Amino acid sequence: MTTMAMASSSSLRSATVPFLLLQLLFAAATAPAEATGGILLPSCKTVGGGSTYFDVQFCLDALGSVGAGADARSYQDLAAVAVGLLAANATSTSARIDGLLRGGVGIRKVDAATARCLRSCRALYAGVARRQPACAAAVRGRRFGEARSSLEESAAAARGCEDGFRRGNATSPVTAENDDAFKLAKLGVALLAFA
Ligand SMILES: *[C@@H]1O[C@H](CO)[C@@H](O)[C@H](O)[C@H]1NC(C)=O
Ligand SMILES: *[C@@H]1O[C@H](CO)[C@@H](O)[C@H](O)[C@H]1NC(C)=O
Repeated sequence: MTTMAMASSSSLRSATVPFLLLQLLFAAATAPAEATGGILLPSCKTVGGGSTYFDVQFCLDALGSVGAGADARSYQDLAAVAVGLLAANATSTSARIDGLLRGGVGIRKVDAATARCLRSCRALYAGVARRQPACAAAVRGRRFGEARSSLEESAAAARGCEDGFRRGNATSPVTAENDDAFKLAKLGVALLAFA
């Protein structure tokens, strides 16, 4: 009985070992990016592949643009990076809106209809910027539901800014900024679903 069990387990082992070796060789040959890129690529494939708001490339470009993204070890880490990028975006977009409203060196002052829309965008982005410290704390504290609703509010703010121009028959000078902020917020939401 014991001999039979040993024999069958050793024949199992002799069949399994070369198979595992082959798998290891195959993995090493086909997945150098995953091996050196940490969790960034597989995570972006997961959230970007399943999203209608942003694609894998946006996720890789955004999170890969900072060291913390490349070094992340969890979806929670990656979500924290997205929140940080959103905060930086909101700050720079607010500054750009101020510049557009003020006019100045190299910046033409906008017309009245555009200015009206920009003023409401300024309030929306002030809200986005104001929310990010608490949102980052919620991610750190694993209060993911709170973080997600904060990010959804920020996504809605970015969309609301862009919609304001459409309703006001004005051309948005901050379409790219709204698009980035909206996608970053949705990226954060998607990452937190896996955290
Ligand atoms: C805003 O986010 C976009 C998309 O991640 C990024 O390309 C851009 O550099 C960010 N801007 C700032 C000022 O952080
Ligand atoms: C925008 O244009 C439409 C059609 O031209 C008009 O009905 C509407 O009142 C305009 N809205 C504003 C805010 O000017």
